[in-house]
Amino acid sequence: MTELPPPPQLGDPLPPAASPEVLRFLALRRSTPALTLAEPAPSDAEVTELIRLAARVPDHGKLAPWRFIVLGAAAKADVVARLEALAQAKGDPVLTAKLGKLRVPPLAVVVVSTPNPAASIPEWEQLLSAGAVCTNLLYGALAMGYGANWITDWYSYDAEATALLGLQAGERVAGVMLMGTPREPPLERDRPALEPLTTRWAP
Ligand SMILES: Cc1cc2nc3c(=O)[nH]c(=O)nc-3n(C[C@H](O)[C@H](O)[C@H](O)COP(=O)(O)O)c2cc1C
Repeated sequence: MTELPPPPQLGDPLPPAASPEVLRFLALRRSTPALTLAEPAPSDAEVTELIRLAARVPDHGKLAPWRFIVLGAAAKADVVARLEALAQAKGDPVLTAKLGKLRVPPLAVVVVSTPNPAASIPEWEQLLSAGAVCTNLLYGALAMGYGANWITDWYSYDAEATALLGLQAGERVAGVMLMGTPREPPLERDRPALEPLTTRWAP
C-alpha cells in the first residue's frame, strides 16, 4: 500500500500544492463495471485508509452527515442472501437479477447519508456532502489501483432492504461503492459535450 501522510492535526498549515499526478488521474480514470470486479479487494487496513480519505470532503457546518457500512466478502454474501429472499418475496425476477452487481465484487462500502433536519445547514447541502464522500471513496480506491464502481439499485430505495442494512428513519443510501480488481480494463464511455453545458457569463 502506498504510504500515506498521517492525518493532519487541527490547525496544521496545508497549502495548496500542484499535483500533475492527480490531474492525470482525473483525466484518465474510469469506473469499473461491477461484474468485472474480482479479488483482491482493498485490505482491512486499506479500507480504513480509504474511509479516512473519503471523509475529507467539504461539509458545510462540519456535521459529518454520513456514515459507512463495510461489507467484506462474507458479510456481503449474507446481505445478498437476505436481499435475494426479499426480491423473491416481491416476486419480481428483475430485482433478483440486479443483485448480481452486488454479489460479484469482493467488497462493498455503503455510504449512508445521515442528514440532520434540525441543523441550520440546508438538507440539500448535507446530501451533496454525502455524494462528495462517495466520489472520494471511488477515486481513492481507483488511485490505490483497484477497480471501483458507484451503484445504488433498488435495494438503496426499498424500505425493507434499507432496514435490512440497518438504516434508521431519515437515513438514505448515497452509494454502494463496489471494489475489487478488474478482470479486464474498463473502456472509455460516452462523455457529454461540455460547451452546451457551460455558460461563460458575460458582464
Ligand atoms: C448516484 C449514482 C448512482 C448510480 N447507480 C448505478 C446503478 O445502480 N447501476 C449502474 O449500473 N450504474 C450506476 N451508476 C453509474 C455508475 O457509477 C457508472 O458506472 C459511472 O457513472 C461510470 O462513469 P465513470 O467511469 O465516469 O466513473 C450510478 C452513478 C451515480 C452517480
